[in-house]
Amino acid sequence: METLIIMLLAYLFGSIPAGAWVARTYGVDIQKVGSGNTGATNILRTLGWGPALVVAFFDVFKGGIALLIARLFGLDGLQLGLVAVSAVLGHNYSVFLRFRGGKGVATSMGTTVVLDPLVGLMILPIGICVIWLTRYVSAGSMVGAVSGVIVAIALGRPLWEVVTLALLALLIFWTHRENYRRLQAGNERRFGERVKPEA
Ligand code: G3P
Repeated sequence: METLIIMLLAYLFGSIPAGAWVARTYGVDIQKVGSGNTGATNILRTLGWGPALVVAFFDVFKGGIALLIARLFGLDGLQLGLVAVSAVLGHNYSVFLRFRGGKGVATSMGTTVVLDPLVGLMILPIGICVIWLTRYVSAGSMVGAVSGVIVAIALGRPLWEVVTLALLALLIFWTHRENYRRLQAGNERRFGERVKPEA
């Protein structure tokens, strides 16, 4: 019962749509601009670095804090994994945005760093390298997600952790399905490309 309540709280916390709310203060409906994603990548291309960093920080933070609270209440193993997935589901399917939202990368990162700091810190440079080489954030996000699973297996982490990271990776692949199609078609937006807020 306690696990279910904390999962619900994690979902609600993950639901807080930082990107949509920050964009609204600029008079922009971020779900109607660029990729429609509420995450920092779309905020960056629409509103610039300042708002993007605020949104990235909050989206990472809400994943991390959900896991810290779960730990505080003594949750462990797969229960922690379920809380991580709940926070990311909240971000992706926000109760405040009619069950739409972001793509779950920053929030997954926040949960992963608390779940297993070494794995989190190992996949971060992998994702950044792929973004740097390709200039596609979506490619870095998907490669980072898969590498989390591979790193966890390579480090001999327990099955529940591998399963949790695999679920987070599956969610990231699902939310990036349009990015994947655009990458294949060669019309994915590059990192740093700007779009007009009213576009
Ligand atoms: O974290 C989301 C990123 O991987 C892709 O964002 O806006 O280009 O779909 P976007």
